[in-house]
Amino acid sequence: MDKKVLVVGGGGRCHAIVKALKRSPRVGKIFCAPGNAGIAEDAECVAIGVEDVDALVKFVGENGIDMTVVGPEAALAAGLVDALEAAGHKAFGPTKAAARIESSKEFAKQIMKRHGVPTAGYEAFDDFDAAWEYVKNRPLPAVIKYDGLAAGKGVVVALSYEEAEAALRDMLLDASFGKGRVVVEDFLDGPEFSFMCVVSGRKVYPLAMAQDHKRAYDGDKGPNTGGMGAYSPVPFVTEEVRATALRDIMQRTADAMADEGVPFKGVLYGGLILTADGPKVIEFNARFGDPETEVVLPRLKSDFYDLVEAAVDGRDCATEWSPEAYLGVVLASKGYPGSYKKGVEIKGLDKVDAEVYHMGTKRDGDRILTAGGRVLMVVGKGKNIAEANEAAKAEISKIDCPELFHRTDIGKASLNQL
Ligand code: AMP
Ligand code: GLY
Repeated sequence: MDKKVLVVGGGGRCHAIVKALKRSPRVGKIFCAPGNAGIAEDAECVAIGVEDVDALVKFVGENGIDMTVVGPEAALAAGLVDALEAAGHKAFGPTKAAARIESSKEFAKQIMKRHGVPTAGYEAFDDFDAAWEYVKNRPLPAVIKYDGLAAGKGVVVALSYEEAEAALRDMLLDASFGKGRVVVEDFLDGPEFSFMCVVSGRKVYPLAMAQDHKRAYDGDKGPNTGGMGAYSPVPFVTEEVRATALRDIMQRTADAMADEGVPFKGVLYGGLILTADGPKVIEFNARFGDPETEVVLPRLKSDFYDLVEAAVDGRDCATEWSPEAYLGVVLASKGYPGSYKKGVEIKGLDKVDAEVYHMGTKRDGDRILTAGGRVLMVVGKGKNIAEANEAAKAEISKIDCPELFHRTDIGKASLNQL
């Protein structure tokens, strides 16, 4: 009961990480930078931004922090883990070089190609004319990805050539996207699922499966978002599919990164798709998924701090999982993932009898206000997904805020399967 932990981040994922650490008998004190209004009930929030590497390293040194758990990709890409380790501190998360598995789509694709990790075929372009020439001579849908961090929003699955051309223009000719490089991929078909594994070099400790819902509206309509809801377990991922994904994708990628001199430590998130030819990679992330973490970590019965420490120290660690189902629905600001209002009061939270993870909120005296695109995630639990869904729906109905919307079909693919 003596470990001091700093969690870096301020969304629902970090709230779930904080709650999981709080359940560990080994953890005495949890800080969160910068945290948010919900996290403040479970950790001491400190006002340092996730990319303020110098201030974070200083805080860790001055407060005798035993372990820093890094949530968001921006902190990894800013080199937070490198800086902490250089100063002699323990950090859970990949180095900046290893985090390129997420921050550069092309780096990820090259690793997969060289090591035979199943994924869609691709070509990379930085010239608009060459990219458009390639795309217009291929079948639709065209999958066009911006090569850089875009918070899950830099991907267009174009159903028409007009849409494909517009996406290429945006990404390669419009300065607002930055340096301008795209990856054009073969279209893969099948249900998607998220397989997060804690990785320590060649050691892979699989976490429970989850499924995210990326599109903004019911029926998988509308623009891609950071994720509108998730559930765990995922019944269509059979033990056989899981074993294949673990061996041919997650373990092979961990080994590939070690072989290439960029060993991975932290959470390797496989965004996978179950095609007729088996599971393939859609994308890798170098961190816990959001909103998947909010439905996966509550199922972990063994000590989360132990797992984090085992990965950092490179030792083995067994995990134990609850068979219960968790299903979480994101309440987002109307307009998200485009522009939206902020500062709108959320009422009724005190009546909710379920875990509520704060994704983008702010406290103003006694009031909780909206402060982001994704605002809250309400997680129901039950002995199966249908029960967890009912629980989430009943609790959401108690929340009163005219500026929020949510999907009503989270978990639909699995409601009758378990
Ligand atoms: P990503 O940010 O790479 O995960 O892509 C966002 C979403 O776009 C994914 O969740 C998929 O639904 C879709 N997508 C990305 N790549 C492909 C692909 N090669 N084939 C089909 N759909 C894709
Ligand atoms: N839920 C997808 C992500 O974390 O990127």
